[in-house]
Order: sequence, then structure tokens, then C-alpha cells
Amino acid sequence: MDTVTTIAAVRAQVQRWRSEGLRVAFVPTMGNLHEGHMSLIEAARRHGERFVASIFVNPMQFGPNEDFAHYPRTPREDERMLAQAGCSLMFMPDVTEIYPNGAERATRIEVPGLSRILDGEFRPGFFEGVSTVVAKLFHIVEPDVAVFGEKDFQQLTIIRRMVADLCMPIEIVGAPTVRDADGLAMSSRNQYLTAAERALAPRIYQALQAAAARLKAGDVDFASIERGGFEKLGSAGFQPDYFCVRKADDLAAATAAAPELVILTAARIGKARLIDNVQVRRG
Ligand code: PAF
Repeated sequence: MDTVTTIAAVRAQVQRWRSEGLRVAFVPTMGNLHEGHMSLIEAARRHGERFVASIFVNPMQFGPNEDFAHYPRTPREDERMLAQAGCSLMFMPDVTEIYPNGAERATRIEVPGLSRILDGEFRPGFFEGVSTVVAKLFHIVEPDVAVFGEKDFQQLTIIRRMVADLCMPIEIVGAPTVRDADGLAMSSRNQYLTAAERALAPRIYQALQAAAARLKAGDVDFASIERGGFEKLGSAGFQPDYFCVRKADDLAAATAAAPELVILTAARIGKARLIDNVQVRRG
């Protein structure tokens, strides 16, 4: 595996592969890789003949009171894991390579509507930061296919919409969420949990599963399902931001006729803010 830090080096390598007719798959990450990322990488290997991973903690997607400075950075370990997983090229730029004029003044990409709801309501500017950096990385790597985790379901939905709206010739693949044995979705932010908080954390997935069971049984009282999940998390000791049932394709309000729904939640506990979701196919 080659490790490069410049846009020019990525372009040169990808152009060589392209001239050989090889299909290029891409996994953008913020590093601190864990098993969840490894499943994205396996998906990338299934979809391409060469694969590129980027490691870039993107300042534009962190709010002023968020954890940009303290976000866990483990570049040497990430490099080792990617090489072992058969990654062809690791792109690890610094902030000035991606934002030569500063992140605050950079051109931005916004997917209106979708980026202002759910997590976007609680993290203003977050999805603008995500769609901007992903668009830039797509222009740099020019992959045939890119893989994103379903754990960040709203992010995946926004990237799909951005790619369609901007006519980018890139196939977007969603990879299923990887969970610890007790159900907690894997995330770099799980390391912020104390032992007591970690013991409570699986309640999030349990609340989502209970809501999914109601939907599968034909319950269409979405307001009651949402209230039930929100209260369950509150009484378990979380501060939930939202617990919502939405249509899986566009995150619009759930309807009784929609065949595919998704239940999404975000809840804070101690220093951590955890997000998770469960998709429900009906009928
Ligand atoms: O999901 C992430 O890790 C990030 O939001 C992404 C897609 C790498 C953009 O910085």
C-alpha cells in the first residue's frame, strides 16, 4: 500500500489504474479505524479492483463546541489496518491541502432540506461540512464506487442526493452497521463512554428494536412509537435529541403506505453523543 498526502499524488496513481481499465473503489474516513470501518473496506474490495481510503478529520463538519481538537487520531495504527486489509492507496492530507484558503472561506456544498432535519437540526453546519469534503474527495479520487456506513444513515442519504443532484458518475454503496455483541453500534466516539455509560449504551439499540417490532406488527401510530422510544431512552439515563420514524428513501414523514421505514435516534450520555438507526421493511 502507498501512503500519500498530496492531491497530485492521488490523481497520478488513480490515472495509472484508469489507463489500465481498473475499477476504483473509495472509502472516505476520519481515521481511528475499527471493525465498522473494516466492513466498509471489505465492501470496497468487493466493488472495485483497486481501493483508496482517505483519513482526514474534517474541521468543517465540527461545530465550535464539538470535539475536533480531541477527536481520536491514530494514523500509524490506521495505516497498519488498511495495509492488512489490502488497501491499495491511503490518502492522508493535512488541512491546508484540502482547504488552501481556510475551511471557513471555502466554497460549500449544501443539500437543502435533508441537511437541516434530524441531526442537522442539532448540529448546524455539520452536513454542509460533510457534503463539501466528500464532494472535494470525490473530485480528487474520481472513484467508480464509494462506500459509506448505514450507521450514519442520514449522511448516506445526503451523499446519494448530492451525487444525483451534481451528476457525479459514482455508485454509492451502503454497508450494514457493525455492532458489538450487546448491540451497540461501533463508533470512534464510543471511547468517550465511561464503564457505567458503556453498560447503558446498548439500550439505544434495544429501544430501536422495540420500535421496529411495533412497526413490523403493523402499528402505524408513529407519534406514539416515537414518544415511546424517546421516553425509554430518557428514563434509562440518556438525553435524547430525537427518536423519529421516517421513510427510508428520503427521510420524509412516515406514512402507513411506505414499504421501507427507518427509525433514527441520537442520544447524549456523559461526553458522548451516540447515533443509531434500524431499517424496517414492511409488507
Ligand atoms: O463518516 C465519516 O467518517 C465522515 O463524515 C466522512 C464521510 C469521512 C466525511 O468527513
